[in-house]
Amino acid sequence: MKQRVFVTHKLPGKEIDKLKEDFEVDVWSDKDIGRKDLIDKVKGVDGIISLLTEKIDKEVMDAAGENLKVIANYAVGFDNVDCEEADKRKIVVTNTPGVLTESVAEHAIGLMFSVMKRITEGDKFIREGKFAGWEPDLLVGTGVRDKVLGVVGLGRIGRWTVKLANSLGMKVIYHSRTRDEEYEEMEGVVYHSLEQLLEMSDVVSLSVPLHDDTKGMIGKKELKLMKRSAVLINTARGGVVEEKDLIEALKGGVIAGAGLDVFWDESKIPVDLIKLQNVTLTPHIASATIEARLSMAKLAVDSVRSVLLGRMPEMVVNMKK
Ligand code: DGY
Repeated sequence: MKQRVFVTHKLPGKEIDKLKEDFEVDVWSDKDIGRKDLIDKVKGVDGIISLLTEKIDKEVMDAAGENLKVIANYAVGFDNVDCEEADKRKIVVTNTPGVLTESVAEHAIGLMFSVMKRITEGDKFIREGKFAGWEPDLLVGTGVRDKVLGVVGLGRIGRWTVKLANSLGMKVIYHSRTRDEEYEEMEGVVYHSLEQLLEMSDVVSLSVPLHDDTKGMIGKKELKLMKRSAVLINTARGGVVEEKDLIEALKGGVIAGAGLDVFWDESKIPVDLIKLQNVTLTPHIASATIEARLSMAKLAVDSVRSVLLGRMPEMVVNMKK
């Protein structure tokens, strides 16, 4: 009998079809799967391919039962998967790093440009029929050359953001859990504590994973440290920023603007945030390039195939101890 794989959402490309050659594969539709259907569908499966929007916790693993050997999360972030619980059950958890690095870093830079050059504001201005002709002081923004970009988190995405910012003539500083002096020398970037980075930066870009240490790492106190002219970019996870504090800071002029691709509750973006002029909001699409999304599907499928055929996949995020 073939091993069974449940895929919680249709994925781009033909990778899932290839998976069907070796396994019995059940794919949910292109609609979000609700909790009840998820619990029901995973019963007895050997592998799950999940999205970042689904909580893969003890209840789901219990429902799947003892056949479950692999959870391949279709994302680089895996804060939605209870890795400790998976460890206890010797279930391999994988993610999709490396293939979306450029896409997410490009998006961070895109959001920065959008806010600083007031691109979405300009777009809205035209669509609302307000543009009557060129004016010297119409929607004047800020250039990026010689501005200080503070990158928080020096993983693959943070590093690519550094490269892009360097090519724009920005001065780049960074903060990370671990300092990398060799890298600093190579890229000409300077390490600072988070507090110093917030004080010094014209733009702060967040590229840290969400976990206990990073949850709410940017709140009222941290926003107050930033320059009044500064812009915050978040392509990481909504939970890294205290959203209420950010909204207050944006309303009160504590910082000048924000570019956000991720939100505390992505099904319910606060109206107060939507109403703000000085923000660019995108619907969690930083990794949404065709190149990245196809490669993410390939990685997730390869991971499932490896585990179910008795090999250890490349991108394991748990079982470290
Ligand atoms: C990820 O892969 O974690 C990203 O947030 C997807 O855009």
